[in-house]
Amino acid sequence: MSVHKSSIRKITTHQLQEMKSRGEKISMLTAYDYSMARILDAAGTDVLLVGDSASNVMAGNDTTLPITLDHMIWHACGVVKAVQRALVVVDIPFGSYQANSTEALKSAIRIMKESGAHAIKVEGGREIQESVIRILSAGVPVMGHLGLTPQSIYKFGTYSVRAKEQAEAERLIEDAIMLEECGCFALVLEKIPAALAQSVAQKLKIPVIGIGAGAGVDGQVLVVHDMLGITQDFKPRFLRQYADLNTIINDAVVRYINDVKSKSFPSEEESY
Ligand code: KIV
Repeated sequence: MSVHKSSIRKITTHQLQEMKSRGEKISMLTAYDYSMARILDAAGTDVLLVGDSASNVMAGNDTTLPITLDHMIWHACGVVKAVQRALVVVDIPFGSYQANSTEALKSAIRIMKESGAHAIKVEGGREIQESVIRILSAGVPVMGHLGLTPQSIYKFGTYSVRAKEQAEAERLIEDAIMLEECGCFALVLEKIPAALAQSVAQKLKIPVIGIGAGAGVDGQVLVVHDMLGITQDFKPRFLRQYADLNTIINDAVVRYINDVKSKSFPSEEESY
């Protein structure tokens, strides 16, 4: 029996590496559901991240800490079904990998098996090295995440720029090199000085994808609700807003409500 194969060439971790080698920047956006993922994939986004920022933008929590592994898998299932081309990466959520490397491996395997995603992302450096090695040794591609790691927000105390001091910058560089040496296929750097991010991207062979990390890295990631202007009251300096969907949706809904109240919807043509 033959299986239908799409003619669209899928993005692989290997292709991301090639993009870095030829200087082509990588585009990455978050996605949490089928309908949005279809639009983002069809537009040509290289990587879709089922981020644990779903905790904020989908569930309305203040932090990423409350989201569970089951929630992440549920979101990832919808995204994977929608995608024809993009690489789908899923965040391992807080509390599902920190205890030990066995727990981390089990969580990574659940994500891959139950959602069909292509890779996982994990926050942290040397403190999770053993877990990263075990997940990689099971054949699961791992994306690292350093700098501002939102799962540690209560340790940091604020969402301000990380690694401005030399000691923290040096530690970040060491952790980035360690993650590459372990076998991670890419690294996210969040909210660190642009010069530091650029120097990490130059030191590493694997692609470095930034959010609030300047232009000297190999790609960019944004939270889709922020860049489309659905989110309100979140306007950090690094965010470029490409649409004002909040206003567009609000206008449409106000017109709908007016049509219902004025009895002009539905019309005869819209009725059976
Ligand atoms: O969860 C998320 O959205 C992320 C990005 C900010 C990189 O980790």
